[in-house]
Amino acid sequence: MVSGAAAETVGAVGGGSVHRTLVAEVTRVRAARPDRPPRVLDVGGGSGAWAVPLARSGCAVTVVDNSPNALAALHRRAREAGVHELVTPVQGDVDALADVVPPGGADLVLGHGLLEVVDDAAAAVSALTTATAAGGAVSVLVVGRYAAVLARTLSGRLAEARAVLTDPDGRFGADDALRRRLDAATLRGLLEDGAALRVEVLQGDGVLEGWVPSAVRDGGPAAARAVAELEDLAAAAAPLVEMSARLHALARRPG
Ligand SMILES: C[S@@+](CC[C@H](N)C(=O)[O-])C[C@H]1O[C@@H](n2cnc3c(N)ncnc32)[C@H](O)[C@@H]1O
Repeated sequence: MVSGAAAETVGAVGGGSVHRTLVAEVTRVRAARPDRPPRVLDVGGGSGAWAVPLARSGCAVTVVDNSPNALAALHRRAREAGVHELVTPVQGDVDALADVVPPGGADLVLGHGLLEVVDDAAAAVSALTTATAAGGAVSVLVVGRYAAVLARTLSGRLAEARAVLTDPDGRFGADDALRRRLDAATLRGLLEDGAALRVEVLQGDGVLEGWVPSAVRDGGPAAARAVAELEDLAAAAAPLVEMSARLHALARRPG
């Protein structure tokens, strides 16, 4: 069974190219500032799918989210993982981020699963950038447009596929829970033209794994390894990046 459509959410840290990129960035910060933990700000961090593993790796993570329920789940998760002292939950909106975190206060700012749900993606990127230290990085992970077209085509929802392909925001209609789906050029434009960041990584996340038949995917450790290896190779292949369930960018604020 093809399950690409199910991948249209931003998921937890596993292995994968996004995880590796974040680990490399944290390693870079640690080398530059060995005197303190890397400062991570996770905006729209939800229940901590990224924040908790980053805290486990020794980062001091502030999570800003507008949902009290998500922050309560984050609190539980951080406590269970034994890292609650490294995780600071803050209720707040990206639209008013400067009210709750200092400008330039984070070495690494995450906006994962955020740009597709906020009213104004450009304003959100601008807020993430303002919160980033000079020389620091912004990491964004966002639902991709073309995988959504393909998933809907393969499941016979042709009207929706057509709408996602042709709508300026990549939406299938008024009932669409997402405000937008992005392609690689639009994401790059938001970061570089809109916020004067320098994109260092633009890669796919969930490039092929969502299309692997479940009979293969559930076929044991060797099959899981084969899927992961294929996924890693595909993450950087430009035509496949455009077809990814999610697009990931790491963009640097000039120092
Ligand atoms: C799809 S979830 C992503 C969660 C997490 N970042 C991840 O990748 O697993 C989106 C999160 O953004 C939060 N959110 C939505 N709009 C927001 C806003 N305007 N300001 C702050 N957080 C927001 C939601 O409450 C939710 O927790």
